[in-house]
Amino acid sequence: MANILITGGAGFIGQNLVHTWRKTRPDDRLTVIDAMTYAANITSLEPLIESRQINLVKGSITDGALLRDLFDQHQFTRVAHLAAESHVDRSIEDPEAFLTTNVLGTFALLKASLDFWRANKLLEQSRFLHVSTDEVYGSLSAHEPAFCETTPYRPNSPYAASKAASDHLVRSFEVTYGLPALITNCSNNYGPYQHPEKLIPLMIIHALEGKALPIYGDGSNIRDWLHVSDHCEALIAVIERGHVGETYNVGGGNEQNNRNVVGLICETIDRAFAKDSKLKDRFPACPAADDRSCRSLITFVTDRPGHDHRYAINATKLANELGKRCSVDFAAGLEQTVRWYIENEAWWRAIISGSYRTWIEKNYGNRSAV
Ligand code: NAD
Ligand code: DAU
Repeated sequence: MANILITGGAGFIGQNLVHTWRKTRPDDRLTVIDAMTYAANITSLEPLIESRQINLVKGSITDGALLRDLFDQHQFTRVAHLAAESHVDRSIEDPEAFLTTNVLGTFALLKASLDFWRANKLLEQSRFLHVSTDEVYGSLSAHEPAFCETTPYRPNSPYAASKAASDHLVRSFEVTYGLPALITNCSNNYGPYQHPEKLIPLMIIHALEGKALPIYGDGSNIRDWLHVSDHCEALIAVIERGHVGETYNVGGGNEQNNRNVVGLICETIDRAFAKDSKLKDRFPACPAADDRSCRSLITFVTDRPGHDHRYAINATKLANELGKRCSVDFAAGLEQTVRWYIENEAWWRAIISGSYRTWIEKNYGNRSAV
């Protein structure tokens, strides 16, 4: 049994990690700290909170005094640090929050962990897992080899720069103070509970609602898609069995350009409507309700500034050292994800009815079709 702190546990990957952890390690005591930003959602956690299977603290990782109190109260020996501002487009619009949470928040968490583990002589048995991104390595051209753990950092967006800064801080705490830290850098996740501002849920929801599917630039940008369940299993393997001071890359081994991804989403929705006629009544604005393909909604719009061309992950270290290989097939994972958004309409409707509208107007209002 261990006392675990999960930061950002009300976000997309955080919620999935909480559920995976709860199911696979029922004796561990889980505390989630989350600032409950626009990206947070606790609907899926509510049953666990009510039945006291997890403890949810609404607060910011930048609040050092709160972190100190939580460590004293719950005696954490494992920290899985996921809290972050995570959307690249928002970092381009307004980078400051990214520096505050991703850099200063990570620093406050490192300090609280180190102070508590040092004072209580827990350094040896404790672990700090910092969850980071492949975006710190920058962008690959078509023929360059995939990112490995020794690829030099070359972040291009304010988001990526803030994550790179946090990775460097984590590493410095391990080398300088002996904090038992590990870092993971993973590729694009997809799956249940992802906020509708990100590519895959945005395209699914827009297609269901008969709205334009806005592909940035010419849609040739490539991402390495990783199902969130594979990612969560990898995170648990790293925190439990990884070597302190090491970095592990986590990837899906599944490079796809954005045109393909959006095309696959369209085909998956078209097929779902062809199989289940009730969907036509539920989503009458979807082209598939009139037996037309959702592909008719695809629109190419002004590109994201500084748009990284290609990410690809070499995950052999994770496989060789920890025996974890990602196994969810992309077409099957995407089909399951489309089904999840169809079945969980109330979940995303609650999100897109709020301040999300203002974001959509801000991000897409000035992007002309190209
Ligand atoms: P998300 O935006 O869905 O969730 C982030 C969570 O952090 C939210 O619940 C938010 O409320 C919380 N948060 C933000 N600021 C906070 C603060 N100051 N204090 C406490 N909580 C705060 O993000 P995600 O997609 O779940 O990503 C989780 C982590 O994984 C991030 O660190 C991200 O950089 C990293 N990552 C994500 C992906 C991906 O594809 N989603 C890929 C690689 C790495
Ligand atoms: O690579 C890991 C990163 O993946 C994480 O660190 C980030 O937190 C996560 O948000 C994600 O970043 P991306 O910028 O790759 O994800 P996003 O879903 O925003 O975009 C994926 C691709 O789709 C990217 O090439 C931009 C493009 N895109 C995105 C949106 C929202 C579009 O073409 N149209 C869109 O409307």
